[in-house]
Amino acid sequence: MGSMLMMLGLCVLLLCPFPVAFSEQCHPHDKKVLLQFKKELNNPYFLASWNPKEDCCTWYCVECDDTTNRIYKLFLVSSFPDTNLSGQIPPSVGDLPYLEDLTFHKLPNLVGPIQPTIAKLTKLKYLIITNTGISGPVPDFLAQLKNLELIKLSFNSLSGTIPTSLSQLPNLSSLQLDRNKLTGPIPASFGSFKKPGPDLILSHNQLSGPIPSSLGNLDPERIDFSRNKLEGDASVLFGSKKTTQILDLSRNKFSFDLSHLTFPKKSLIWLDLNHNKIYGSIPAALTKVENLQHFNVSYNPQLSGQIPQGGELQRFDQYAYFHTKLCGSPLPPCTK
Ligand SMILES: *[C@@H]1O[C@H](CO)[C@@H](O)[C@H](O)[C@H]1NC(C)=O
Ligand SMILES: *[C@@H]1O[C@H](CO)[C@@H](O)[C@H](O)[C@H]1NC(C)=O
Ligand SMILES: *[C@@H]1O[C@H](CO)[C@@H](O)[C@H](O)[C@H]1NC(C)=O
Repeated sequence: MGSMLMMLGLCVLLLCPFPVAFSEQCHPHDKKVLLQFKKELNNPYFLASWNPKEDCCTWYCVECDDTTNRIYKLFLVSSFPDTNLSGQIPPSVGDLPYLEDLTFHKLPNLVGPIQPTIAKLTKLKYLIITNTGISGPVPDFLAQLKNLELIKLSFNSLSGTIPTSLSQLPNLSSLQLDRNKLTGPIPASFGSFKKPGPDLILSHNQLSGPIPSSLGNLDPERIDFSRNKLEGDASVLFGSKKTTQILDLSRNKFSFDLSHLTFPKKSLIWLDLNHNKIYGSIPAALTKVENLQHFNVSYNPQLSGQIPQGGELQRFDQYAYFHTKLCGSPLPPCTK
């Protein structure tokens, strides 16, 4: 190895007059596919390091597995806002059968649908397409990729409904579809996710309808349904037996009685219910939540009665409670 490096060094110095044989770690199939991938993207400057004369395991944006020497990770992440990578996700991506981790991030000129050939990547564990111009539906075929642990498709222009089939993914621990243009309901099938169920980050879409009661079977760490058009009763997401840490239902049209709900006493750190039509009063059970760090029930005009005194509830300022009929610290005292 040392002598080879020296030889290469000499070559650089002497502008090497003869070709140096070097052994390549990269699998020839993967190399061919990656060069095709680059071509399908019109050879962007971004992939200038993908030089056919070099071992593809040394290229930027890819990683080879040490034992199989196959490409298992492809991550195209722009470090500059104006990275000149445009067009669709190349179909050849589906010909990297050992891919476990596929990431496209901060590529505003990457457009078109989620490439259908991704359906061939049966080893895929992490699919991350974020902050791109990708549009079209969240594809149904994702449900066939049984090794998926993370689906993160945030900050795109995806539309259509959420495929019900995703609940068939046995190892999914996080589903992040926030900040798109998704419509329709949260699928009732989601109640049959393997327990405790994945984190469900579905905020900033146009989802509508009620929370399926089947979701009461789940106990994810994080639920963020904020900024949608969801309505009705969300009480199945609460309960003292759950271990949820983050529950954000803010800016929807939820309408249910808060008075008798119970809460994950030890785990809950974030509860945001602002801008809904929640009614009743704030239950005393909330004073028993030990680590509540964020709480907001503002803009629920029908929420009334005295704010229970104790626990963390007086740590939040009046803005956590305003635009309601609540009274008592931190709001002015109740009058009768
Ligand atoms: C992107 O790259 C192409 C080819 O190099 C060039 O013609 C085009 O002007 C570039 N666009 C931007 C926005 O930089
Ligand atoms: C799910 O994950 C477990 C543990 O990481 C693994 O053994 C199993 O093969 C995975 N299941 C599927 C269907 O991929
Ligand atoms: C609660 O939410 C309202 C509405 O979004 C916001 O104005 C207020 O600052 C928030 N307060 C706290 C303490 O989070």
